[in-house]
Amino acid sequence: MTDNIKPKINLQTLKTYKEKKIPVAWITAYDFPVSYIAEKSGIDMILVGDSGGMVQLGYKTTNSVTMDEMITLAKAVRKGAPNTFIIGDMPQGSYEVSDEDAVRNALRFVKEAGCDAIKLEGGKRVSSRLKAINDSGILAMGHLGLTPQSAGSFGGYRVQCKTIKSYEQNLDDALVLQEAGAFAILLEAMPPEPAGQIASQLKIPIYGIGAGNLVDGQLLIAHDLLGFYNDFRPHFAKCFIPEVINSFSENIFPISNLKKYGVEERNDGLLHISELAIRKYVEEVKSGLFPDLNYNYNLKENELNELINSNKWLK
Ligand code: KIV
Repeated sequence: MTDNIKPKINLQTLKTYKEKKIPVAWITAYDFPVSYIAEKSGIDMILVGDSGGMVQLGYKTTNSVTMDEMITLAKAVRKGAPNTFIIGDMPQGSYEVSDEDAVRNALRFVKEAGCDAIKLEGGKRVSSRLKAINDSGILAMGHLGLTPQSAGSFGGYRVQCKTIKSYEQNLDDALVLQEAGAFAILLEAMPPEPAGQIASQLKIPIYGIGAGNLVDGQLLIAHDLLGFYNDFRPHFAKCFIPEVINSFSENIFPISNLKKYGVEERNDGLLHISELAIRKYVEEVKSGLFPDLNYNYNLKENELNELINSNKWLK
């Protein structure tokens, strides 16, 4: 397998990808090995998600993770992926209090951990924070749909945009974030059609996690993609290990091929099978194969008919 270190993505690349309808493939990472393989596998971007609080640090929800912990995770990710566009996820408590607080914590991601951008959850209620961060010269992206930090106020982890009210609220929030300077927005847990409407009504790239393939790119949590966390795995989160397990075991180098000294090119362990799985994910995202119907929140006919009646639905 040859290394595939691409030039680091920038805003212009992301805009061009949207215009040319080239889907962006990104994953989360929280440590050195996964970010190292992610970069090697040709991933476009990495999110150091606050989901790391659950899948890496073992908290029950993302709400416990602190800014200091996020910085430690992000530093390790930068070391593993020196050439990749990395987004630091603002944890709960790092941006709610004031614009100044939000800018100070966003700056920590850039200065201490070498991140290229930050992400924060919420719509109108965080637009002044996003604008302040953007005005300070740090790239900021939004996160709408299901926003885990405030899942309690939605009554738990619930699929969004199944009603006109929820769809219009998310579309309005997306427009406000675009106006505030967001360079992109992530939509979480919604059916493909409303997500696609939001993507086609905004100028900036709109990415999805559990939001179908009518958006401008896909995010998956690394531990879901690799089947490394079983406490909670939503059905859209495809594990790519079964698709590569046969080629992995059939192609292990014989021991006699290994070098005696220096860096050994072993392909018999977790690093290699994870690389195959991430490459498969990138391939399926780029070709539009992932996510298919099995990994969507599909609407019933009557639900779609209701949404289409919205005045904010492009006919
Ligand atoms: O923290 C994270 O990984 C995220 C995803 C759930 C979208 O924000």
